[in-house]
Amino acid sequence: MKQLLILGATSDIARALAYKYAGQSYNLTLAARNSDRLAELASDLEIRHQVKVERVEFDALDFGSHAAFYERLSPKPDLVACVFGYLGDQKKAQTDFEEAKKIIDSNYTGAVSILNIIANDFERRKAGTIIGISSVAGDRGRGSNYLYGSAKAAFSAYLSGLRNRLAKANVHVLTVKPGFVRTKMTANVPLPGPVTAKPEQVANDVFKADRARKHQIYTLWMWQYLMLIIRLIPEPIFKRLNL
Ligand SMILES: NC(=O)c1ccc[n+]([C@@H]2O[C@H](COP(=O)([O-])OP(=O)(O)OC[C@H]3O[C@@H](n4cnc5c(N)ncnc54)[C@H](OP(=O)(O)O)[C@@H]3O)[C@@H](O)[C@H]2O)c1
Repeated sequence: MKQLLILGATSDIARALAYKYAGQSYNLTLAARNSDRLAELASDLEIRHQVKVERVEFDALDFGSHAAFYERLSPKPDLVACVFGYLGDQKKAQTDFEEAKKIIDSNYTGAVSILNIIANDFERRKAGTIIGISSVAGDRGRGSNYLYGSAKAAFSAYLSGLRNRLAKANVHVLTVKPGFVRTKMTANVPLPGPVTAKPEQVANDVFKADRARKHQIYTLWMWQYLMLIIRLIPEPIFKRLNL
């Protein structure tokens, strides 16, 4: 049975991914801060799907702990899904560098720190899949969330580079760009129904794309076209819009 490591396993999207992959007979390693919170989820997954589920402590911002964290994992994963992220407060981040840094580190530096280690192991083993949950917010900076967006843009570029490097070692990298998803992260954001996904829809799209060894997906699918339009708006017009 294959082993999936989920980084940021307390997230709503991570939870949906856990059910999706467990339903396909993957054993799971759920990594999160205060992983005790995952006890109920882990036992439900084990009973429902007859898989093994480990829980491990992981803090994306504790960069110094990442090498030992990965060293201790047994078994080592065949797949890793990097799901953690932090929307943050754009307004606050404009005047408070600590908030800006937390957004950048939670969405980018932390991912680089742990995925560098995993990528090197996968490259040595000449096998593995890395799934990175980025965002459409990285496709074009907008006034209302460009700190989060710029960190996700960096993450998307990092994943693209990893894919290019690791293709030679038979390691697959999938970039996932969700649009709006109804989760804890967006609990206070007014979400437009028709283009908002449930975490389960995101998990289904990720699983299908992983199986098909796709390089990048938008989820829901229409975000590919919405973002194409947004990217094509000329800068003189774009800068006047309140986005
Ligand atoms: N919801 C959307 O509309 C949307 C759209 C595009 C992309 N995304 C991306 O999808 C991913 C999952 O988010 P979600 O929507 O499922 O929201 P969520 O339920 O709020 O999940 C975010 C998760 O990130 C974890 N996290 C944050 N900082 C961490 C750290 N330092 N170490 C370990 N874990 C940390 C949080 O853990 P704690 O429980 O410990 O705080 C939380 O479980 C994120 O990368 C997000 O940026 C979401």
